[in-house]
Amino acid sequence: MKHIPVLLDAVIDALGDIDGRTIIDATFGAGGYSRAFLMRGARVIAFDRDPNVAADAESLAAEFAGRFEFVPRPFSDIAEMTGTYDAIVFDLGISSMQIDVAARGFSFRGDGPLDMRMSGMGASAADLIRDLSVGELAQILRDYGDVKKSSILARAIKDAAPKTTFELKNLIHNPRDVAPVFQALRIAVNDEMGELTRALTAVPERLVVGGKCVCVTFHSIEDRIVKNTFRDWTTPAGDPRLPTVAPARFAPIHTVTPNATELENNSRARSAHMRGVIKSY
Ligand SMILES: C[S@@+](CC[C@H](N)C(=O)[O-])C[C@H]1O[C@@H](n2cnc3c(N)ncnc32)[C@H](O)[C@@H]1O
Repeated sequence: MKHIPVLLDAVIDALGDIDGRTIIDATFGAGGYSRAFLMRGARVIAFDRDPNVAADAESLAAEFAGRFEFVPRPFSDIAEMTGTYDAIVFDLGISSMQIDVAARGFSFRGDGPLDMRMSGMGASAADLIRDLSVGELAQILRDYGDVKKSSILARAIKDAAPKTTFELKNLIHNPRDVAPVFQALRIAVNDEMGELTRALTAVPERLVVGGKCVCVTFHSIEDRIVKNTFRDWTTPAGDPRLPTVAPARFAPIHTVTPNATELENNSRARSAHMRGVIKSY
């Protein structure tokens, strides 16, 4: 299935006039956001750690010659950059291309190897299950999937050592736990929360004054990280009772969730939030 970008209009609206500006698209995916930025006259540097997006990136580079650069790396590498940019945009999670290909092991709807690696490198979900203790596995299910009775399920998974998505799915007796278990393992395999935290830590120094950071999140765990980070950035520093309080370095941009039409046309938009901040000084 073709990937339909989520909350793209809200992101464009939050960014304002981007003609001639330079934007980091931290999550290229199918290039829906990058294309929209390029069509509005921006220069784009796009990250994605999934090697399968390279062909789409090459065709955008050809179409918008000199204005588009693709970085086939994790977005935490923003910390390695030295310049300053007008906006940094994250559209988190996985794309339709990733979830729809059973061989990538992200989905419980099709049978495939229990892989789940966005980059195709490092430990797969099956490796993780083999290498973690029951306690560590239970914590992942709890922290990243809010799975109840996580210890019992972790023990069952560890003992069965599933190698395919259907083998894993068949171990989960409560149908309501299936999606959360798959989500939890995917987050752990890809160190999604570590990636997000490291990238956000680097953002303030990589933005020009007046620059914006916009994030689209898809579940409460990543949304909490973005919300708390933006709250810290938009809160004046110091004790408010003292005269030396430093003004907040960022101001918030309104938060947006998908409207009824978008929710009807794109099931991926469910539980999406767009949050943004603008650098004040
Ligand atoms: C929801 S899709 C982005 C879709 C894109 N905005 C579009 O309109 O087509 C998320 C993409 O981000 C990539 N991604 C997720 N985490 C990443 C990370 N830490 N570093 C680099 N790419 C990442 C995934 O591989 C996936 O292709």
